[in-house]
Amino acid sequence: MAGLTIDQVSKRFGEHEALSNVSIDVADGEFLAVLGPSGCGKTTLLRMVAGFEKVSGGRIVIGGQTMSSAEHSLPPEKRKVGIVFQNYALWPHMTVAENVGYSLKVAKVGRAERDRRVTEALSLVNLNGFGDRRPANLSGGQRQRVALARCLVSAPSLVLFDEPLANLDVHLRASMEDEFADFHKRTGTTIVYITHDQAEAMALADRIAVMDKGKLAQLAPPRELYREPANEMVASFISQGIILPADVLTAAESGHCRVRVLGQEVVVRCRPDERPRAGAKLCCRSPELEAVGAHEEGIPVAIKRVVYQGGSARVELSPVERPDLNLHIEQADPVTLEAGVEARVRIKSGWVIPEAGNAS
Ligand SMILES: Nc1ncnc2c1ncn2[C@@H]1O[C@H](COP(=O)(O)OP(=O)(O)OP(=O)(O)O)[C@@H](O)[C@H]1O
Ligand SMILES: [Mg+2]
Repeated sequence: MAGLTIDQVSKRFGEHEALSNVSIDVADGEFLAVLGPSGCGKTTLLRMVAGFEKVSGGRIVIGGQTMSSAEHSLPPEKRKVGIVFQNYALWPHMTVAENVGYSLKVAKVGRAERDRRVTEALSLVNLNGFGDRRPANLSGGQRQRVALARCLVSAPSLVLFDEPLANLDVHLRASMEDEFADFHKRTGTTIVYITHDQAEAMALADRIAVMDKGKLAQLAPPRELYREPANEMVASFISQGIILPADVLTAAESGHCRVRVLGQEVVVRCRPDERPRAGAKLCCRSPELEAVGAHEEGIPVAIKRVVYQGGSARVELSPVERPDLNLHIEQADPVTLEAGVEARVRIKSGWVIPEAGNAS
């Protein structure tokens, strides 16, 4: 096992700066997920950690040893890093055991030792007894587990995943998520896990790094990321946060302050250093908004769309006074709201987005 330090790493492809000054410390045994829009640099970062790509600046340190710097780059095979991609490309003409043991064979590891390690790796991914099968005779999830075993057989100190479940259906994803969580618990391997699926990241990771246009936007545990986004990008990217203009009316006290938002005064969560200011932004999650009766205090809204989702509906609406703002709430069955009508919404809580977002 080994920790990973990504220290002020930058990567340029010609004129294009794919990563700029990214610093992330991954503790020994930690499960770190990386989230971010397409093209923000996630795969590039992983490829540099694995040694497939050189850094333009900064350092990558694994288990205390500098693997990459602008001057030096250790080749991938010297890094003890395992990597599992979305398309797991097993060799169809080899059995499962041969696929898993291939790298050991290339490294001229003896037959007995090889068999032992292959059996051990297959057992780690719950594929005992599958060694003689061909990949064609496995389910998608089993194939992905073979790919994982193939990476584990060389006893990596760090395992990197690049969207390993993206090709699997919803049910398989869920069961593979359980397998990964279980695998992490049993082995304590340090894991860096790229995904597009926020729920997956939240379920699996100790901490999540959100990247935006080649920069680290925030690095925090899932709950903190959701409740206390550091900036507007993270607020709107994670769980489709609703961003509303607000004026902060009081200084922070016990993590709360009073704000005026769309004509309503509400007590919301904030940083301890928050102070009265105009032009702030409030992040609300849909459970923090609720529809209220026509005669109750609330923001008049026009309902634009109601999408039934089984058990509840997603209701998209805009304040009558601010038709340019898009809000959404959930309404549980029985769904009574419908498109075209006016209603009232109350803001119950929210988070004041810090004035100068930082990546703490
Ligand atoms: N070899 C390369 N040469 C030039 N540009 C590249 C190269 N590899 C990646 N890029 C560019 O660097 C940026 C980051 O790419 P990267 O593949 O890391 O994104 P990503 O976050 O993994 O996206 P996705 O979620 O779509 O997989 C993109 O703008 C991409 O076009
Ligand atoms: Mg990618």
